[in-house]
Amino acid sequence: MRFIGCKTLLLDKIKEVIDENAPEAKTFCDIFSGTSVVSRYFKQWYEITSNDILYFSFVLQRATVENDTLPSFSGLDQLGIDDPVQYFNEMKPAEMETLEQEKRFFQNTYAPTGGRMYINDENALRIDYARNTVEDWHNSSLITDDEYFYLVACIVEGIPFVSNISGTYGAFHKQWEKRSYKKFELFRLDVLTNNKNNKCYNEDGVELLKRLEGDVLYIDPPYNGRQYLPNYHVLETAAKYDFPEVRGVTAQRPYENNKSDFCLKGKVIEAFSNLIENAQYGHIILSYSTDGLMSVEDIEAVMKKYGIADTFRIYEIPYRRYKSRTQGKKDELKELLVYVRKNKK
Ligand SMILES: C[S@@+](CC[C@H](N)C(=O)[O-])C[C@H]1O[C@@H](n2cnc3c(N)ncnc32)[C@H](O)[C@@H]1O
Repeated sequence: MRFIGCKTLLLDKIKEVIDENAPEAKTFCDIFSGTSVVSRYFKQWYEITSNDILYFSFVLQRATVENDTLPSFSGLDQLGIDDPVQYFNEMKPAEMETLEQEKRFFQNTYAPTGGRMYINDENALRIDYARNTVEDWHNSSLITDDEYFYLVACIVEGIPFVSNISGTYGAFHKQWEKRSYKKFELFRLDVLTNNKNNKCYNEDGVELLKRLEGDVLYIDPPYNGRQYLPNYHVLETAAKYDFPEVRGVTAQRPYENNKSDFCLKGKVIEAFSNLIENAQYGHIILSYSTDGLMSVEDIEAVMKKYGIADTFRIYEIPYRRYKSRTQGKKDELKELLVYVRKNKK
């Protein structure tokens, strides 16, 4: 999934830093998990704990990290449905028209029917139909929690492929872009089996860390003032399907309770200090940018204060490698991986 700060291109670098510093590690915590690509990748070697303050991120993690096998959906046998992903993807528009108007949140909010152009009307109805049906199946115990989260995640992962936006949901295009004409489909997610007790959370990472412990803690916080929820509000609503009272041309959902201190210049250092102080992990790895709200000196001071100072190391990754596109002055920017070892209390 396209997501600000997604670390797909850095996975091998993170692995190198872990192999160099923590070859004995058995558990890995991804406390700011976003798309969950980092957790999914490291699941092949470690028992994973993952977390994010965004609910849609939690759903993606829950479906592919905490779930340890592809669900069987045996409860749907009685409806004659063997493969629900295929069932939704092959559904004809006429069948979906049976869905009551008041249940069509996506069509009534993000599509031309609702005066907006995030998604076309037919695709919005596909999402509404699938989302309502999955909720009904779960409420009537036809699917388990594991199956529910798997299907909601497949719906959420499918939405960016047909969204009429340039990367985030801060705004929609005024003309239909090519991708918005494609048919919406649930995205069939893979689930890797590692036979471990992987666990996912949807909490403030600073608070959650007071209750966790393990070997490797990977920290990938936002690094600038851009809050995540307003940029991904449509995916959050797809995951929650909670009929929020949206506002303005862009249909933002309320997000007062979801503001991250890591995006606030006046709060970020305190939040980061609390995070590192709370961490009961032997190895801490931070991803950050030289362009971030915290300076490298701020980071160093905090990590040396709570960690073992002489183990502190900075690995620099040229922005050019990390970003798929190069842009003039951005060449000077660097993505950092910062490591420190910590004694657990
Ligand atoms: C840079 S992104 C992580 C990207 C992720 N590593 C990936 O590859 O997709 C930062 C994430 O931190 C989350 N976040 C921000 N503040 C948080 C907090 N206090 N607790 C938990 N998650 C938070 C955001 O919702 C966002 O998903």
